[in-house]
Amino acid sequence: MLKAQKAIRAMRVLVVDSREEDRAAVSERLQHEGYEYVQACGSGEEAIRGLSRSLAMRQPVDLVILGLHLPDRPGIEAFEEIHSVFDVAIILLATPEERTLAMEGLARGADDYLPRPLNLGLLLLKSEKALTKRFLRRELRRSTSRNETLFLNVLSVMAKVLEAKDPYTRFHSENVSTLGSSVAREMGFQDDEVRRIGIAGILHDLGKMGIREAILKKAGPLDPEEREIVKRHPVIASTILDPIEQLQGAIGYIKYHHERVDGGGYPEGLKGEDIPLGARIIHTVEAYDTMTSRRSYSPARTTQEALDEIRSLSGAQFDPQVVEALTLVLKRRGQIAVKDQDRTGRSLAELLDDLTDRVKIED
Ligand SMILES: [Fe+2]
Repeated sequence: MLKAQKAIRAMRVLVVDSREEDRAAVSERLQHEGYEYVQACGSGEEAIRGLSRSLAMRQPVDLVILGLHLPDRPGIEAFEEIHSVFDVAIILLATPEERTLAMEGLARGADDYLPRPLNLGLLLLKSEKALTKRFLRRELRRSTSRNETLFLNVLSVMAKVLEAKDPYTRFHSENVSTLGSSVAREMGFQDDEVRRIGIAGILHDLGKMGIREAILKKAGPLDPEEREIVKRHPVIASTILDPIEQLQGAIGYIKYHHERVDGGGYPEGLKGEDIPLGARIIHTVEAYDTMTSRRSYSPARTTQEALDEIRSLSGAQFDPQVVEALTLVLKRRGQIAVKDQDRTGRSLAELLDDLTDRVKIED
């Protein structure tokens, strides 16, 4: 037997049907065909319990073969309940009178349907088709996850280089990443987008790799020429990261993290909504973190002073909705005074790893 075929036969099937003879016939036929995990029950309640249990044991059911009109769930109620809660393929069994209901189920996301009286050969084919589809989807996810690991390794190397070059950047990047993610979450962003902002936070100053250490570590204010050199860092970062396909969503946040909503920023002097929202978030939290950090040539402001200043520049330098979200996040943490409480003491590479773990696809 081919490896894929073997894996498909090892997938879990639950037969839910109030007609005992059909239930037994379907189960027997599947087992005879080599399916290793076939269970059966006759009510919606038992089905939900069985599906929940298998999920809790991390052995989720892959396919439910489901009769309509269960004693405790009339019509397609059981289908609706299972479909809305569990990630599972569903094949409906329907008498000719139930055909309309089965069609409704198909329209709402059932994978297939089979008319009664049952043709068991056809049911086997349909089951195999639904399970193969799930198997291929799972394999695709696995390979995506492998690519993701490779991509993370590249980022980790970059983060380490950056850390070695300018130790201040290490805490700054972590703070911008953590606070930026919280602000994004506060603004109702989805997980993927929050993660993108977290990654952009860690890498936003990567372009400083291309700037002389004498300037980065200068003990005093920069002269105009040095300031111009430092201003190149967002473009340098976006040029370095541009070939990495998985970062495409985050590169704009990095490239434009010094743009101001009034158009007075750099590199392009973009205004308002022309600046990606992620970049407006990074810009605001970066300013907050810079103001509250002690650099060699300027003392740190208190967190309250920094927030007051950011609020006074809302609508000019900073996006008002981002400023509001930042204010709420800081208030909620009750941390206006303890800004370092989120520091983990871990390396940037570990933090990046964490960001990916949060969205790792479960198999
Ligand atoms: Fe920057």
